[in-house]
Amino acid sequence: MDNNSTNASYSRTAVTLHWLGAILILILLGTGFRSDMTLNPEAKATFLRIHLPVAVAVLVLTLWRLGRWWRFDQKPAPLGNAPAWQEAVAIWTHRLLYVLLLVMLGSGIALSVMSGAPDAIFGTAPMPDFLEYAPRAVHGFAATLLVALIALHAGAALFHHFVKRDATLRRMWFGKRASVP
Ligand code: HEM
Repeated sequence: MDNNSTNASYSRTAVTLHWLGAILILILLGTGFRSDMTLNPEAKATFLRIHLPVAVAVLVLTLWRLGRWWRFDQKPAPLGNAPAWQEAVAIWTHRLLYVLLLVMLGSGIALSVMSGAPDAIFGTAPMPDFLEYAPRAVHGFAATLLVALIALHAGAALFHHFVKRDATLRRMWFGKRASVP
């Protein structure tokens, strides 16, 4: 089974988790910012009715990904065609993406528990004013950082693909897998 990454390419599981996670995180950013922008409690509830279950899915996927990298799989080696400082920026961007995801998930859960959000979103309780709760500030600040980091991450991938024309983006997709000794 094509279930482990090689030195040169990512496994199908790693590729699936990466792109599924990316789509769900974009949905979270969209529904989160839209909820923040509206004052109408019914519209807020509609956005958060998507936001909360998707966040739980992202929590499961993130823990699954981290668990795989930690115990069961290894990342492919760098392609070796970039200066050392670019390799370092890439490694730290990836680490910081995980840290921010965990901060978003942790602050989101704390915010929901403290404000009783699920009762308002899925039940009949009045919508709380989230800004009254401390984790809301953390959630909002980390979301802005996350958007900046995603832009850097995606921009770098597109730069490799279209300007340097190397395999950085291709190896994070399905298809023939290469291996280096
Ligand atoms: C990767 C995970 C997450 C991302 C990317 C994300 C994204 C966002 C964003 C962008 C906002 C608006 C922030 C702002 O405009 O200042 C937001 C608000 C919010 N999020 Fe999340 N979120 C995540 C996880 C969670 C979790 C796990 C929960 C709860 C279980 C949650 C509950 C909420 C709530 C209640 C709000 C407040 C909405 C409002 O103020 O109208 N989020 N989220």
